[in-house]
Amino acid sequence: MHIDELPTPALWADLDVLESNIAEMARRLPGNRLRPHVKAHKTTALAALQYEIGHQGFTCATPREVLGMAEAGLGDDLLLANETVDVQRLSAMAASNARVTVAVDSQATIDAATKAGIKECVIDIRVGFRCGCEVEEAEALAELARNSKISVRGVMGYEGHAMGVVDLERRRELVETAMARLCEAHDAVGGELITGGGTGTHAINTWVNEIQAGSYVLMDTAYNEQTDQPFRQGLFLQSTVVSVAEKFAVCDAGLKSQGMDHGNPSWVGGEVLFCSDEHTNVIPEKPLEVGDRVSFVPAHIDPTMAKHQSLHIVRNEQVIDRWDIDLRHW
Ligand SMILES: Cc1ncc(COP(=O)(O)O)c(C=O)c1O
Repeated sequence: MHIDELPTPALWADLDVLESNIAEMARRLPGNRLRPHVKAHKTTALAALQYEIGHQGFTCATPREVLGMAEAGLGDDLLLANETVDVQRLSAMAASNARVTVAVDSQATIDAATKAGIKECVIDIRVGFRCGCEVEEAEALAELARNSKISVRGVMGYEGHAMGVVDLERRRELVETAMARLCEAHDAVGGELITGGGTGTHAINTWVNEIQAGSYVLMDTAYNEQTDQPFRQGLFLQSTVVSVAEKFAVCDAGLKSQGMDHGNPSWVGGEVLFCSDEHTNVIPEKPLEVGDRVSFVPAHIDPTMAKHQSLHIVRNEQVIDRWDIDLRHW
């Protein structure tokens, strides 16, 4: 089927771009130097490509992602890089056939993991962005975990505040400060893992021993401004023009079909004016007619993927496969 025959709105990925982004990252960070974050795509078919190229450990954001990866046979080494006190879901992860490590940053998260029978954890350190304990608390939390029969594999620190910074020198400074905290905590905690980083810092965070990048596979538009990024945009939202006015056209893919927290999507054929629930208004460079197709590039891939059930796989404008976005929901 040609992409123009897809019922819209429809999400599609350019297979050549996706494969070349995966190969480029594997060249830069081979094997277990990369622990790909599956929250970016929530698709086990795509994770399987990352696995095949040599990354056997994965980062997950939700218990649902951990359990889905385990069911898909991709559970060699799964890190839930988020805190949870949900004993029921922790128990399901502990009972799965996967190796599961969870992030903890408080007595409550360790108690919940202990109750659920979780065997391994990393101590999550607050390095300037979101969750995590203070550096000074890390040693005592590691001791508490070990006393609770949970093995401590090391430390985690996600420098999300540095990720989207365009200026490379400024980004490097932010990473250095954040990672000084992580390394200090690691000295106190021990363990083989120092884990963190993402697409925006994958080339400059030399302090961690594994990078948790996810978006590199399909790419957020904001990363385009970072001149050091080698990855290309691979995710598109196909829409149909449903109404044409004198100065603008209206397409049938709105904010309910894409993540808008990073702003409007882009479009090579003209200017995107605004998105409403089910529509996007555009000013085309060349006149459009009702029934024409417009391919948007969503600004933020993670929430866009989470809004769709299927990802259409496209090569030379032909839809050659359809992958289930099977790790969505909670
Ligand atoms: C804990 C953690 N690690 C890694 C990442 C990956 O970042 P990116 O998708 O930009 O590569 C994220 C993204 O939010 C994250 O929350």
